[in-house]
Amino acid sequence: MKRTIVVTGGAGYIGSHTAYLLAKKGYHVIIIDTFVYDQPNSFPWATVIKGDCADKALLERIFTTYAVEAVMHCAALIDVRSSVERPFVYYEHNVVKTMQLLEVMLAHSVTRFIFSSSCAVYGVPNCVPLQEDHAKNPISPYGTTKLIVEQMLQDLAETQQLEFVALRYFNAAGALFEHNLGEYHVPETHLIPRALQAAISGDPFYIFGTTYNTDDGTCVRDFLHVMDIAQAHCDALDYLGMQGPSTAFNLGTGVGTSVMQLVGLVNDSVGKSIQCISTKERQGDPAVLVADASRAYDILGWKPRFTLQEIVASAYAFMQVKKRVMGVAKDIQSTVL
Ligand code: UFG
Repeated sequence: MKRTIVVTGGAGYIGSHTAYLLAKKGYHVIIIDTFVYDQPNSFPWATVIKGDCADKALLERIFTTYAVEAVMHCAALIDVRSSVERPFVYYEHNVVKTMQLLEVMLAHSVTRFIFSSSCAVYGVPNCVPLQEDHAKNPISPYGTTKLIVEQMLQDLAETQQLEFVALRYFNAAGALFEHNLGEYHVPETHLIPRALQAAISGDPFYIFGTTYNTDDGTCVRDFLHVMDIAQAHCDALDYLGMQGPSTAFNLGTGVGTSVMQLVGLVNDSVGKSIQCISTKERQGDPAVLVADASRAYDILGWKPRFTLQEIVASAYAFMQVKKRVMGVAKDIQSTVL
């Protein structure tokens, strides 16, 4: 019999790639997603349930209908800037709903939880590359919500039989375009899709800050292919299955790339030269965020496989796919329990 894994936010960016990989590895995947965004995929490899990940009655029906082995909680609001403008909305979605989900899970003896955390828990680094025990001083409500949930998980692991892995993603990027999966945020705020869009359209691309204390004055980030992140979820599941103690892992490559270098790679990939305009720094952007992911390498046996060139090329390819198949999820077959 197939093992059943619930992926909340399974129609979103990280969730959809993770759900796909789980299904490919032979799991029965249940996607719970509100489908607020138009998606270029209908997720035929999963049981799709349209709904809220904190809907108690829905969760109870899922946990009584299926023998769920673990929940991968990818559903969240993710825009750092909008979290500053609307902190209550972020606390509600990212903290309160996670708490409600955990409550129903534990009441139904579903005890394994893999959490989409973020490098945003660290705030401005004292030193890079960042290790997991670096001080946690988030500088946005988004980062704070991720840290609060990690603390909640820690408490529940000590007293309530919860077993968890928190995966602190650095900069997720790239796509599984061959399967109509990729990055699709509304509005899109992330560097790679925005730079690609500028290259394709000929519109200017705005660089947020060129006087940082880095080699070329632009921010440095650690870009990681979304399928490497999906693989880490599978490795974390195996780790919990082998009774690994609850913990957090950084997910990154350990290699920093500046915004300017990234623009160069996008130029090469698209074969056009982006018109860049320097503009003021974006509030809350640390100069350098690079992961030390050696714990994940050593303990999970995980290692990123994709190069930055492959990340950019796959994100570019997904932009073509998106134009062709947008809106497919309107016809989604949602399972009603
Ligand atoms: N950038 C630009 N122009 C753009 C978009 C981005 O110059 O149009 C720059 C940003 O200022 C930043 C870099 O490109 O220096 C990367 O920006 P992204 O928005 O792609 O990603 P972030 O580094 O801001 O976000 C990541 C994760 C978040 C996490 C955050 C913590 O995606 O989940 O790091 O700082 F919260």
